[in-house]
Amino acid sequence: MDVAHQTSAKEAVGIHAAQLVLDGMNVGLGTGSTTAFAIQELGRRIRTEGLSIRGVPTSFAAERLARNLEIPLATLDEVAHLDIALDGADEVDPHLNLIKGRGGAHTREKIVAALATEFVALVDASKLVTQLGSVKPVPVEVLPMAVSPVMRALEHLGSTEMQIRMGQKKDGPVVTDQGFWIVDAHFGGIENPNELNKAIHAIPGVLDHGLFIDMTQRVLIAEVDGTIRTMEKG
Ligand code: 5RP
Repeated sequence: MDVAHQTSAKEAVGIHAAQLVLDGMNVGLGTGSTTAFAIQELGRRIRTEGLSIRGVPTSFAAERLARNLEIPLATLDEVAHLDIALDGADEVDPHLNLIKGRGGAHTREKIVAALATEFVALVDASKLVTQLGSVKPVPVEVLPMAVSPVMRALEHLGSTEMQIRMGQKKDGPVVTDQGFWIVDAHFGGIENPNELNKAIHAIPGVLDHGLFIDMTQRVLIAEVDGTIRTMEKG
């Protein structure tokens, strides 16, 4: 899928997903270019339809976008439970397991997704894989002083290649919203994502990582022609 088609697919699925949001809902607002279209559509619905919602953002970026659109926001101190959370993904397998975190927001995204009755992933068809890890690395958020032991432990778990994620317009590592670093760990096709999920969690110095196992209730997929299809937990 070329970039122009991918962008219009992201827009189509973002707008579609925003229609799942009903009056009075508490809504998790994900991070990334696909969810940005959903957030923009929610802003439009608030302005033109009088939709009444509270959004819980998953990153500084999502918060700034939502504030610019005058979407009422709440924190997890104010809201114990979300009706729905909308978010993008980098890979989706046939069991609705995901790799997330290209935007480095996966730790907050996972917290928000776990509190939602329904977590909906929004993707274009290029994100579908038969096995997680086939294309994308697993982003691992790490306490900076622990980066070397964490990387050695990831190698022990089978990572064949790792990079500390570097800033684009800043020298040195990307610093997350939590003040941590990100190690992008390539595993190739992951045979047992749930086992790897638990094993990475158990490494001291890891805050969280981008494997989302058994968390997604629905995936909305935009095809190249803009049609949307749904995969649901069976
Ligand atoms: C950010 C994420 C994003 O949701 C994921 O990377 C998809 O991004 P995009 O919609 O821009 O392709 O996990 O941490």
